[in-house]
Amino acid sequence: MPMTAAKPPLQLNDQGQLRHFLSLDGLSRDLLNEILDTADSFLEVGARAVKKVPLLRGKTVCNVFFENSTRTRTTFELAAKRLSADVITLNVSTSSTSKGETLTDTLRNLEAMAADMFVVRHGDSGAAHFIAEHVCPGVAIINGGDGRHAHPTQGMLDMLTIRRHKGDFDKLSVAIVGDILHSRVARSNMLALKTLGCPDIRVIGPRTLLPVGLEQYGVQVFTDMDQGLAGVDVVIMLRLQRERMQGGLLPSEGEFFRLYGLTPQRLALAHPEAIVMHPGPINRGVEIDSAVADGSQSVILNQVTYGIAIRMAVLSMAMSGQTAQRQTNSESEEQA
Ligand code: NCD
Repeated sequence: MPMTAAKPPLQLNDQGQLRHFLSLDGLSRDLLNEILDTADSFLEVGARAVKKVPLLRGKTVCNVFFENSTRTRTTFELAAKRLSADVITLNVSTSSTSKGETLTDTLRNLEAMAADMFVVRHGDSGAAHFIAEHVCPGVAIINGGDGRHAHPTQGMLDMLTIRRHKGDFDKLSVAIVGDILHSRVARSNMLALKTLGCPDIRVIGPRTLLPVGLEQYGVQVFTDMDQGLAGVDVVIMLRLQRERMQGGLLPSEGEFFRLYGLTPQRLALAHPEAIVMHPGPINRGVEIDSAVADGSQSVILNQVTYGIAIRMAVLSMAMSGQTAQRQTNSESEEQA
């Protein structure tokens, strides 16, 4: 019987280069390191008087946000502008979908605008994959966060933050704390840490906010915050995602803060040089005390700066992956 070739991974081209960026699932350690190294080189661009390189000159990047966002949307815009692309941003939640247009209709309209790349944020898990599967060839799709599923650029900017502040991953203990159940950031971070070789990944939260199947990520699970924080090098706090909660998953925000809020006393249980991270927006007094958020161990604002460099890296890598694929396709057409 003839063997059928395995379907190639959607987000990679025939040479294994990035052509979409949808999830960290299945991406190799080498590829993640390439993203981090490329972002490192772009950090220097952000420190220049003229913050521009011509890598995406003549290309159009369209940010399509079906869900609210400030940080992610603006840092994607800045990243595309620093790469010299033309950029437009559509906040679709307030436009056509609320008038009944389907995702496919929206997609076809966007394609008609002839953009080279779409950055998509959507409340449904899998939306970016769906668009990448159906968009016309040559157009790159970047996931800016889909439902509870993935937020791969946030995952990578968190990895860049850890690598720049704490060095290699192979000796680190990292704790991810709070509302794991609703967090796409937690999922992307667990995958990235595991792929990059972090030996001690801890997940801390109340039982009602821990999803089933956490074992598959190779993490240790704690419901006691003091135990989970002991000696860690990195504390990643998550926002309590009240907009995604249905029913009584929590007694009250006050109770949550008492048990899982990061206070200076709790932070003292971690390594004395531990860093504190948070993807934002932060809820002061709900998951994090202001004294910690604004304290000397906090790198929360550095994360935002690193986010621009990571997004520049991902946009430029996906664009060159699409170009390489187009060349391969036209060469094989010529031979045929
Ligand atoms: C995160 C998100 O949207 O998933 N925020 C972000 O991208 N800056 C986390 C959150 O909203 O809590």
